Amino acid sequence: MNIIITKDYQELSEKACELIEQQVSKKPDSVLGLATGGSPLGTYQEMIKGFSSRGVNYEKVRTLNLDEYIGLDKNDSQSYHFFMKSHLFDYINVNADNTYIPNGKAPDLDTECELYEKLIEDIGPPDLQLLGVGQNGHIGFNEPGTSFESETHIIDLEESTRQANARFFDSLEDVPKQAVTMGIRSILKSKRIVVIASGERKAEAIRQMLKEEPNENMPASALKHHKHVTLIVDEKAYKKAGHGEETQ
Ligand code: F6R
Repeated sequence: MNIIITKDYQELSEKACELIEQQVSKKPDSVLGLATGGSPLGTYQEMIKGFSSRGVNYEKVRTLNLDEYIGLDKNDSQSYHFFMKSHLFDYINVNADNTYIPNGKAPDLDTECELYEKLIEDIGPPDLQLLGVGQNGHIGFNEPGTSFESETHIIDLEESTRQANARFFDSLEDVPKQAVTMGIRSILKSKRIVVIASGERKAEAIRQMLKEEPNENMPASALKHHKHVTLIVDEKAYKKAGHGEETQ
């Protein structure tokens, strides 16, 4: 695993954006795997700047998002569809028809999972997958205990995940209890994976990911099975994880 340590979240976001822009300039019709949540917000801001000031062209890019809450309509302001539009897609020249996110309101969710996995095969796998990490080590919404062989599936969100994500909702009760997520096997199909982790609350997940043998209780540890992973981590997360000069 290649590790890039940055002084702060801003530098982390710039680095992640740089890798995405390099990918898109090398292959203009790249497939980008994208994530939601707090971690990629800065990366998306930088990508928007890159589009408007550096002329980065997303016209031929296709995107595949990792996950979506079950029960939320695409237009719901808490859905990941809405998140992607309002934080990235509306501000770059990606073609909306080329952006894919699981449908959390599909009438038959098992079929939705099968179709999404087929889509990953058909248009993907991503040339570059951007990943955040949950405090409990989840990647996508693959909670601890998820099989490393999993493909796109329905997941029951852990209470700790719902609590962590409650900051985006009016109240904890509003946070959905389930999601459709790419599985761990689906994620590992990506050609390159860029993991971003910022702040002390991610330190324990990063420590386990780097130090422990791959095991299904720590989903992010599955990344050790992948040949081309870059971890971009800020000093706060990295030092507290037991690396660098000081640990607490
Ligand atoms: C989001 C996703 C999740 C988040 C993780 C970290 O699409 O799949 O794995 O990356 O929950 O969330 P933040 O970045 O909000 O700390």
